[in-house]
Amino acid sequence: MSTHIGARPGDIAPLVLLPGDPLRAKWIAETFLEDATLYNEVRGMYGYTGTWNGHRVSVQGSGMGQPSLAIYVHELFTEYDVQSVIRVGSCGGMSEKVAIRDLVIASGACTDSSMNRIRFEGLDYAPVADFGLLRAAYDAAEGRDGVHVGLIYSSDSFYAARPELAARMVEYGVLAVEMEASALYTLAAQHGRRALAICTVSDHLVTGEETTSQEREQTFGEMVEMALTAGTT
Ligand code: HPA
Repeated sequence: MSTHIGARPGDIAPLVLLPGDPLRAKWIAETFLEDATLYNEVRGMYGYTGTWNGHRVSVQGSGMGQPSLAIYVHELFTEYDVQSVIRVGSCGGMSEKVAIRDLVIASGACTDSSMNRIRFEGLDYAPVADFGLLRAAYDAAEGRDGVHVGLIYSSDSFYAARPELAARMVEYGVLAVEMEASALYTLAAQHGRRALAICTVSDHLVTGEETTSQEREQTFGEMVEMALTAGTT
């Protein structure tokens, strides 16, 4: 096993879906995967491997925030030879271009995190999605209303100390805020792997609208199908 994942080499599939919430990982495994087996429960951060349409797929919780995600993604890449990671998460709408229940496929991720500033000694790196996965996800979403491709903002703070700075991001094209994608894209670049983040808009910072838990589950399910299709085509 690696430091935080209690799996043996080979237990984890080359494609991993990565929700923040470990109970979402359990729900995805139970709802979408055949013959799913639990490979990790260290810290309650569940990980399962099963098959979807004949393809071996794993689903692993990442926890909230870039430091937590980076632990799991680093170990998936370096200890389990994972090739593709698709984050399936939620985000807060920031731009009036997006509405609750919409899907945002993140072409790139801005951040206020210090992780990349430390990594690049103050230079600003631009973390971007894998284009093949992005294109496949967009194709898989064909026919669904409310699908956006664009920039998101990976913030270290859910409760922002300076909300006006987030508003400035919107003036520069940012659609929504979440807390993980920037680290995911950076680690994929470092290790030469593929990564994508797809997020459902669960709440809107400007309009104050929120989804009900039933709406969240339905939209989440649609996004998971998109991610599975994108990852296996
Ligand atoms: N901020 C950060 N992450 C989020 C939010 C938010 O408002 N909504 C859903 N994920």
